[in-house]
Amino acid sequence: MKKRLYSPFPTSGYYGPEYFCDRENESELLMQNARGGNSTTLISLRRLGKTALIKHVNHLLKAEFLCIYIDILPAENLDHMMNFLATSIANSVEEKSTTGKKIWNYLRSLRPVISYDNYSGTPSLSFSMGQEGSKNQLAGLFRFLEEQSVPVLLAIDEFQQILNFPEKNIDAWFRSLMQELNNVVFIYSGSEQHLVNEMFSSPSKPFYRSSQIVNLHKIDDAIYTDFIIQKFSERGKTITEEIVNGILKWTDTHTYYVQLLLNRLFLVSGKKISEEEWKNEAYKLLKEQEYVFFGYRDLLSPQQWKLLKACALDNKVYEPTSSEFVNSHTLGSPSTVLRSLHSLLSKEILYKHYDSDGKHYYAVYDVLFKRWIGMV
Ligand SMILES: Nc1ncnc2c1ncn2[C@@H]1O[C@H](COP(=O)(O)OP(=O)(O)O)[C@@H](O)[C@H]1O
Ligand SMILES: [Mg+2]
Repeated sequence: MKKRLYSPFPTSGYYGPEYFCDRENESELLMQNARGGNSTTLISLRRLGKTALIKHVNHLLKAEFLCIYIDILPAENLDHMMNFLATSIANSVEEKSTTGKKIWNYLRSLRPVISYDNYSGTPSLSFSMGQEGSKNQLAGLFRFLEEQSVPVLLAIDEFQQILNFPEKNIDAWFRSLMQELNNVVFIYSGSEQHLVNEMFSSPSKPFYRSSQIVNLHKIDDAIYTDFIIQKFSERGKTITEEIVNGILKWTDTHTYYVQLLLNRLFLVSGKKISEEEWKNEAYKLLKEQEYVFFGYRDLLSPQQWKLLKACALDNKVYEPTSSEFVNSHTLGSPSTVLRSLHSLLSKEILYKHYDSDGKHYYAVYDVLFKRWIGMV
């Protein structure tokens, strides 16, 4: 955790508080909920910082909780989820410590196949039990966590993925399982906003009101600006507020894109960062991604492509079927636009979002694509 990064702006993973900007209120809230035994559900656009925030909170709470993290996006069924969970539990403790010995004895008793990563040597556990078997095993694993003398904080990232599992009514089954746990607090997190919203805030769904829903927003511009200037200056470089403003505007303060651009800018720049340096890096990013953007075009129908371009140019689109929008971009009829809109939303190329005053708008998910459209 303590290794010094070449660039103080990592673009994946969590490297400790030193490289982590703000999120103080959100961290506080998550910690407070964990200590009070209440679960939290984190929702936001992709790449805004949910995973990093969870890792940060785990870091802050590691003396109080046994923190377990699983990302179930790659899981296709309960079996896979069981493997992830067992692996994560195994890796969250020192095998030789008192708790570690207990946990490892228990996990071994389930007779997993244990394999070790060639490079890092970390173990990974796998079971193949079939549906009923993995239900029982998962329930057993939760009961085991329930009996630990330390409280457990279990984060399940990309939780909406359980809805894609082939097992029926898996959310109801989970919910009933989790309800019985007093020693385990959950953090759920997900990017597919409508899904997660529906799972947790619709009265007919099992997870209704089971946790506090937290919408993660963009990092405040002023706070991010101070952070960025400080990270440069800690390593003997200067960047002006004006340049940082330009960068935040260009990246929409969408965390991943901010980090990506700064990561590279830091590495290529001299002692004083110039306007030309950052714009050049930004341009190179777009050029590198060009094949991805051409790929979008090949995947989409001509109408969808046109609509996507129109949204990219307009930045935020409040009324995609208004004659003003449709005509100014020659998009054909409103019904065609509506069809394309739904398709682009379901592919997560566009997203729908609410303003602070409750009005919704549509925008392009990929910031680089948006900028690229503006350039060509
Ligand atoms: N508060 C933060 N400070 C600095 N970098 C962050 C912060 N939050 C997220 N990041 C970085 O932004 C990128 C996207 O964050 P991530 O947590 O993966 O988003 P999400 O889980 O919402 O898709 C990652 O590279 C991560 O390192
Ligand atoms: Mg994530």
